[in-house]
Amino acid sequence: MNASTHTPTATVTKAVIPVAGLGTRFLPATKATPKEMLPVVDKPAIQYVVEEAANAGLEDVLMITGRNKRALEDHFDDNAELEQALAAKGDTARLDAVRRVTGLARMHHVRQGRPLGLGHAVLCARSHVGDEPFAVLLGDDLIGPGEGLLEQMLRVRAAYSGSVVALMEVEPDRTHLYGCAAVERAGEAGPVDGRAHDGEDALVRVIDLVEKPAQGTAPSNYAVIGRYILDPVVFDLLEKAEPGHGGEIQLTDALRELAVSGDHPVHGVVFSGRRFDTGDRASYLRTVIELACERPDLGPDFRSWLTDFVRAGHEAPVR
Ligand code: G1P
Repeated sequence: MNASTHTPTATVTKAVIPVAGLGTRFLPATKATPKEMLPVVDKPAIQYVVEEAANAGLEDVLMITGRNKRALEDHFDDNAELEQALAAKGDTARLDAVRRVTGLARMHHVRQGRPLGLGHAVLCARSHVGDEPFAVLLGDDLIGPGEGLLEQMLRVRAAYSGSVVALMEVEPDRTHLYGCAAVERAGEAGPVDGRAHDGEDALVRVIDLVEKPAQGTAPSNYAVIGRYILDPVVFDLLEKAEPGHGGEIQLTDALRELAVSGDHPVHGVVFSGRRFDTGDRASYLRTVIELACERPDLGPDFRSWLTDFVRAGHEAPVR
């Protein structure tokens, strides 16, 4: 492998969030609005992801955007007119909520002109990221606030160098929806299969990866969920990558090359905490309901309404 001169000990400071997708599964809602701006209770989905990055200390955030994504830039920018109006009304709670968004991270944007796949989107980050390891967070996956997944992945990168992916066990009939990993124990030094001590998720070594394997052919039921810490060597591989699954440049294929060659290890953190999928309508609705139930301000009333609603539904005559 012709690796670039990278710095294995460099700390991770940058997060890359690809948001160029068309959001076709939510049309017509996403005709003029980015799908990442759809509200999950009262925050757009993308805000949860940026908060997760900022909470893990990654305050330099690069969004890989496309057409129709202006609202994403605006959301994380100052809105002086709105702030003045809220201040004039003395609505400090909402004013704080609006200002907090702007202060979360230093936001940068680059356009992915053509929809050539996740691997191509990540490659668009190259000149901003440079020769440093970096995080990638996919916007369809929301990780439960306070789960500490990204923080643990950053510790794994610091300890082992190379790249790190988040894995989750899924039902065998769902492996075709994900990148799937073949794994082995992570070696003497680290925690091994099974729930590790100190509340950490288990660590494994990834030895192979397949993007969206056909039903019945997955190497395991460990699915890649949308969190990665990537060594910058991945850019070299993405530059040379041929189109893979769906005719797109796949990040999974570049990571597979690293995992198989063994020169730059790929580790997997087997996440056992809470992940919410906002990528399709049904799972988006479940996410909104679950997070609304947990909110101290809305939850108690909402839960009791929901209980009554479900009970009434069950008792309703079949029409
Ligand atoms: C992408 C990746 C896939 C990963 C998934 C996680 O697929 O290509 O490897 O498992 O995200 O959400 P997408 O869901 O964008 O098709």
